[in-house]
Amino acid sequence: MSDQLSAHAKWAGLSDGLYLAKGRCPSTIARHLDDCLGQPEQVLDAGCGTGAVLASWPRDIERCGFDHDPGLVQYAAQRTEPKLRFEIGTFNQPPAGSFQSVLALFAALQYVLDDEARQRAVLALQSRVAHGGALAIELGPDPDTMHPPAATWTRWRAADGQWWLRRAMASTEDQTLVIDFEFHRGGPASPVVHRDTHRIQPVTRRWWIALFPEPSWAVRFDHIPGGGPLLIATRT
Ligand SMILES: C[S@@+](CC[C@H](N)C(=O)[O-])C[C@H]1O[C@@H](n2cnc3c(N)ncnc32)[C@H](O)[C@@H]1O
Repeated sequence: MSDQLSAHAKWAGLSDGLYLAKGRCPSTIARHLDDCLGQPEQVLDAGCGTGAVLASWPRDIERCGFDHDPGLVQYAAQRTEPKLRFEIGTFNQPPAGSFQSVLALFAALQYVLDDEARQRAVLALQSRVAHGGALAIELGPDPDTMHPPAATWTRWRAADGQWWLRRAMASTEDQTLVIDFEFHRGGPASPVVHRDTHRIQPVTRRWWIALFPEPSWAVRFDHIPGGGPLLIATRT
Protein backbone atom coordinates (compact mmCIF):
# COMPACT_ATOMS: atom_id res chain seq x y z
CA MET A 1 0.00 0.00 0.00
CA SER A 2 1.25 3.51 -0.78
CA ASP A 3 2.41 6.17 1.69
CA GLN A 4 -0.52 8.34 0.57
CA LEU A 5 -2.93 6.20 2.59
CA SER A 6 -4.42 7.48 5.84
CA ALA A 7 -3.40 5.74 9.06
CA HIS A 8 -6.85 4.13 9.18
CA ALA A 9 -6.60 2.83 5.59
CA LYS A 10 -3.19 1.32 6.37
CA TRP A 11 -4.73 -1.09 8.88
CA ALA A 12 -7.98 -1.67 6.92
CA GLY A 13 -6.87 -5.23 6.12
CA LEU A 14 -6.77 -6.01 9.84
CA SER A 15 -10.19 -4.63 10.65
CA ASP A 16 -12.31 -7.74 9.86
CA GLY A 17 -10.26 -9.89 12.28
CA LEU A 18 -10.12 -7.13 14.88
CA TYR A 19 -13.88 -6.48 14.81
CA LEU A 20 -14.63 -10.21 15.12
CA ALA A 21 -12.27 -10.43 18.12
CA LYS A 22 -14.21 -7.58 19.72
CA GLY A 23 -17.54 -9.38 19.10
CA ARG A 24 -18.57 -7.01 16.31
CA CYS A 25 -19.49 -9.43 13.52
CA PRO A 26 -20.48 -7.66 10.24
CA SER A 27 -22.87 -10.38 9.05
CA THR A 28 -24.65 -10.50 12.44
CA ILE A 29 -24.95 -6.70 12.34
CA ALA A 30 -26.21 -6.73 8.73
CA ARG A 31 -28.83 -9.43 9.48
CA HIS A 32 -30.00 -7.52 12.54
CA LEU A 33 -30.29 -4.24 10.60
CA ASP A 34 -32.15 -5.92 7.74
CA ASP A 35 -34.72 -7.26 10.23
CA CYS A 36 -35.14 -4.19 12.39
CA LEU A 37 -35.33 -1.84 9.38
CA GLY A 38 -38.07 -3.94 7.73
CA GLN A 39 -36.06 -5.44 4.86
CA PRO A 40 -35.26 -2.28 2.88
CA GLU A 41 -34.71 -2.42 -0.88
CA GLN A 42 -31.95 0.23 -0.97
CA VAL A 43 -29.37 1.01 1.72
CA LEU A 44 -26.92 3.91 1.94
CA ASP A 45 -24.08 3.51 4.48
CA ALA A 46 -22.55 6.86 5.53
CA GLY A 47 -18.95 6.62 6.75
CA CYS A 48 -18.89 2.99 5.55
CA GLY A 49 -15.20 2.43 6.37
CA THR A 50 -14.06 -0.92 4.92
CA GLY A 51 -17.60 -1.72 3.71
CA ALA A 52 -17.85 -4.97 5.68
CA VAL A 53 -21.45 -4.49 6.84
CA LEU A 54 -22.87 -3.74 3.36
CA ALA A 55 -20.86 -6.59 1.83
CA SER A 56 -22.36 -8.98 4.43
CA TRP A 57 -25.99 -7.97 3.78
CA PRO A 58 -28.18 -11.08 3.87
CA ARG A 59 -30.20 -10.15 0.75
CA ASP A 60 -29.13 -9.10 -2.73
CA ILE A 61 -30.39 -5.47 -2.57
CA GLU A 62 -29.05 -2.13 -3.85
CA ARG A 63 -26.26 -1.01 -1.47
CA CYS A 64 -24.12 2.10 -1.64
CA GLY A 65 -21.42 2.98 0.88
CA PHE A 66 -19.48 6.23 1.02
CA ASP A 67 -16.63 7.56 3.09
CA HIS A 68 -14.41 10.64 2.94
CA ASP A 69 -11.25 8.51 3.26
CA PRO A 70 -10.20 7.52 -0.30
CA GLY A 71 -7.99 4.68 0.99
CA LEU A 72 -10.89 3.07 2.86
CA VAL A 73 -13.15 3.43 -0.20
CA GLN A 74 -10.44 1.83 -2.34
CA TYR A 75 -10.27 -1.03 0.17
CA ALA A 76 -14.09 -1.38 0.33
CA ALA A 77 -14.36 -1.38 -3.47
CA GLN A 78 -12.45 -4.70 -3.57
CA ARG A 79 -15.67 -6.25 -2.25
CA THR A 80 -17.29 -6.65 -5.65
CA GLU A 81 -20.91 -7.66 -6.12
CA PRO A 82 -23.35 -6.48 -8.80
CA LYS A 83 -25.60 -4.34 -6.56
CA LEU A 84 -22.86 -3.09 -4.22
CA ARG A 85 -20.92 0.14 -4.83
CA PHE A 86 -18.60 2.37 -2.83
CA GLU A 87 -17.91 6.06 -3.44
CA ILE A 88 -15.85 8.85 -1.95
CA GLY A 89 -18.25 11.29 -0.31
CA THR A 90 -18.81 13.38 2.79
CA PHE A 91 -21.67 13.44 5.25
CA ASN A 92 -22.54 16.92 3.95
CA GLN A 93 -22.68 15.76 0.34
CA PRO A 94 -23.89 12.16 0.33
CA PRO A 95 -24.37 10.37 -3.01
CA ALA A 96 -27.55 11.49 -4.79
CA GLY A 97 -30.70 9.40 -4.56
CA SER A 98 -33.40 8.22 -2.24
CA PHE A 99 -32.86 5.20 0.02
CA GLN A 100 -35.22 3.21 2.23
CA SER A 101 -32.47 2.93 4.84
CA VAL A 102 -29.60 5.29 5.54
CA LEU A 103 -27.02 4.02 8.06
CA ALA A 104 -24.29 5.75 10.06
CA LEU A 105 -22.63 3.00 12.11
CA PHE A 106 -19.98 2.76 14.81
CA ALA A 107 -20.33 6.39 15.95
CA ALA A 108 -19.28 7.61 12.48
CA LEU A 109 -21.19 10.90 12.89
CA GLN A 110 -19.37 11.61 16.15
CA TYR A 111 -16.17 11.98 14.16
CA VAL A 112 -17.67 15.39 13.33
CA LEU A 113 -16.58 17.20 16.48
CA ASP A 114 -18.51 20.43 16.06
CA ASP A 115 -22.22 20.33 17.00
CA GLU A 116 -23.37 22.65 14.20
CA ALA A 117 -21.37 20.80 11.55
CA ARG A 118 -22.75 17.47 12.84
CA GLN A 119 -26.29 18.87 12.71
CA ARG A 120 -25.75 19.89 9.06
CA ALA A 121 -24.44 16.37 8.36
CA VAL A 122 -27.57 14.78 9.87
CA LEU A 123 -29.81 17.11 7.81
CA ALA A 124 -27.94 16.13 4.63
CA LEU A 125 -28.39 12.42 5.43
CA GLN A 126 -32.09 12.97 6.25
CA SER A 127 -32.53 14.37 2.73
CA ARG A 128 -31.56 10.95 1.31
CA VAL A 129 -34.22 9.02 3.29
CA ALA A 130 -37.24 7.93 1.22
CA HIS A 131 -40.75 8.52 2.63
CA GLY A 132 -41.51 5.67 4.99
CA GLY A 133 -37.78 4.93 5.20
CA ALA A 134 -35.40 5.35 8.14
CA LEU A 135 -32.12 6.88 9.20
CA ALA A 136 -30.35 4.51 11.62
CA ILE A 137 -27.53 6.02 13.68
CA GLU A 138 -25.35 3.89 15.95
CA LEU A 139 -24.62 6.13 18.89
CA GLY A 140 -21.14 6.33 20.36
CA PRO A 141 -19.95 7.88 23.60
CA ASP A 142 -22.64 9.78 25.53
CA PRO A 143 -21.40 12.22 28.21
CA ASP A 144 -24.40 11.24 30.39
CA THR A 145 -23.43 7.58 30.56
CA MET A 146 -19.82 7.12 29.52
CA HIS A 147 -17.13 5.45 31.60
CA PRO A 148 -14.36 4.91 29.04
CA PRO A 149 -11.61 2.52 30.06
CA ALA A 150 -8.14 4.10 30.10
CA ALA A 151 -6.75 1.30 27.93
CA THR A 152 -7.75 -2.13 26.59
CA TRP A 153 -5.90 -4.89 24.75
CA THR A 154 -7.42 -7.06 22.02
CA ARG A 155 -5.65 -10.10 20.60
CA TRP A 156 -6.59 -12.02 17.45
CA ARG A 157 -5.07 -14.36 14.87
CA ALA A 158 -4.89 -13.21 11.24
CA ALA A 159 -3.58 -15.05 8.16
CA ASP A 160 -0.11 -13.61 8.84
CA GLY A 161 0.02 -14.51 12.53
CA GLN A 162 -1.02 -13.04 15.85
CA TRP A 163 -1.87 -9.37 16.32
CA TRP A 164 -2.42 -7.26 19.42
CA LEU A 165 -4.16 -3.87 19.57
CA ARG A 166 -3.74 -1.44 22.45
CA ARG A 167 -6.54 1.10 22.53
CA ALA A 168 -6.04 3.98 24.95
CA MET A 169 -8.54 6.76 25.62
CA ALA A 170 -8.23 10.20 27.10
CA SER A 171 -10.59 13.14 27.09
CA THR A 172 -9.47 16.66 26.32
CA GLU A 173 -10.58 19.83 28.10
CA ASP A 174 -13.49 20.29 25.70
CA GLN A 175 -14.51 16.64 26.43
CA THR A 176 -13.48 15.30 23.01
CA LEU A 177 -12.36 11.68 23.33
CA VAL A 178 -8.94 10.99 21.85
CA ILE A 179 -8.48 7.31 21.07
CA ASP A 180 -4.98 6.06 20.32
CA PHE A 181 -4.54 2.74 18.53
CA GLU A 182 -1.27 0.81 18.49
CA PHE A 183 -1.04 -2.43 16.53
CA HIS A 184 1.63 -4.94 17.53
CA ARG A 185 2.47 -8.24 15.85
CA GLY A 186 3.32 -11.31 17.86
CA GLY A 187 2.97 -9.88 21.37
CA PRO A 188 2.37 -6.67 23.31
CA ALA A 189 6.10 -6.07 23.82
CA SER A 190 6.81 -6.26 20.07
CA PRO A 191 7.34 -3.05 18.06
CA VAL A 192 4.33 -0.99 16.97
CA VAL A 193 3.45 -1.76 13.33
CA HIS A 194 0.58 0.74 12.87
CA ARG A 195 -0.46 3.78 14.88
CA ASP A 196 -3.71 5.72 14.50
CA THR A 197 -5.58 8.34 16.49
CA HIS A 198 -9.33 8.93 16.28
CA ARG A 199 -11.14 11.91 17.79
CA ILE A 200 -14.78 11.41 18.77
CA GLN A 201 -17.23 13.85 20.32
CA PRO A 202 -19.49 12.47 23.08
CA VAL A 203 -23.11 13.46 22.33
CA THR A 204 -26.20 13.11 24.52
CA ARG A 205 -29.32 11.25 23.42
CA ARG A 206 -31.33 14.45 23.87
CA TRP A 207 -29.15 16.15 21.24
CA TRP A 208 -29.86 13.42 18.67
CA ILE A 209 -33.58 13.19 19.41
CA ALA A 210 -34.04 16.97 18.94
CA LEU A 211 -32.94 16.59 15.30
CA PHE A 212 -35.95 14.37 14.50
CA PRO A 213 -39.07 16.40 15.33
CA GLU A 214 -42.57 14.94 15.24
CA PRO A 215 -44.71 14.63 13.15
CA SER A 216 -42.11 14.33 10.35
CA TRP A 217 -40.09 11.69 12.21
CA ALA A 218 -40.82 8.87 14.67
CA VAL A 219 -37.85 7.84 16.83
CA ARG A 220 -37.25 4.48 18.49
CA PHE A 221 -34.17 2.75 19.88
CA ASP A 222 -32.56 -0.62 19.23
CA HIS A 223 -29.03 -1.96 19.72
CA ILE A 224 -26.24 -3.07 17.37
CA PRO A 225 -25.11 -6.63 18.28
CA GLY A 226 -21.66 -6.26 19.81
CA GLY A 227 -21.94 -2.47 19.47
CA GLY A 228 -23.76 0.57 20.75
CA PRO A 229 -27.33 1.91 20.96
CA LEU A 230 -29.07 2.38 17.61
CA LEU A 231 -31.35 5.38 17.06
CA ILE A 232 -33.87 4.58 14.32
CA ALA A 233 -35.73 7.63 12.97
CA THR A 234 -38.51 6.78 10.52
CA ARG A 235 -39.70 9.46 8.09
CA THR A 236 -43.48 9.46 8.51
C1 LIG B 1 -15.48 4.28 13.30
S1 LIG B 1 -15.41 4.34 11.58
C2 LIG B 1 -16.87 3.39 11.18
C3 LIG B 1 -16.74 2.63 9.90
C4 LIG B 1 -17.92 1.74 9.57
N1 LIG B 1 -19.17 2.48 9.55
C5 LIG B 1 -18.03 0.56 10.53
O1 LIG B 1 -19.10 0.36 11.12
O2 LIG B 1 -17.06 -0.18 10.68
C6 LIG B 1 -15.96 6.00 11.15
C7 LIG B 1 -15.91 6.24 9.65
O3 LIG B 1 -16.47 7.53 9.36
C8 LIG B 1 -15.69 8.12 8.33
N2 LIG B 1 -15.92 9.58 8.36
C9 LIG B 1 -15.58 10.44 9.35
N3 LIG B 1 -15.96 11.70 9.03
C10 LIG B 1 -16.56 11.63 7.82
C11 LIG B 1 -17.19 12.59 6.97
N4 LIG B 1 -17.26 13.88 7.33
N5 LIG B 1 -17.75 12.19 5.81
C12 LIG B 1 -17.69 10.86 5.45
N6 LIG B 1 -17.09 9.90 6.21
C13 LIG B 1 -16.55 10.27 7.39
C14 LIG B 1 -14.27 7.69 8.67
O4 LIG B 1 -13.39 7.80 7.56
C15 LIG B 1 -14.49 6.25 9.12
O5 LIG B 1 -14.40 5.33 8.05
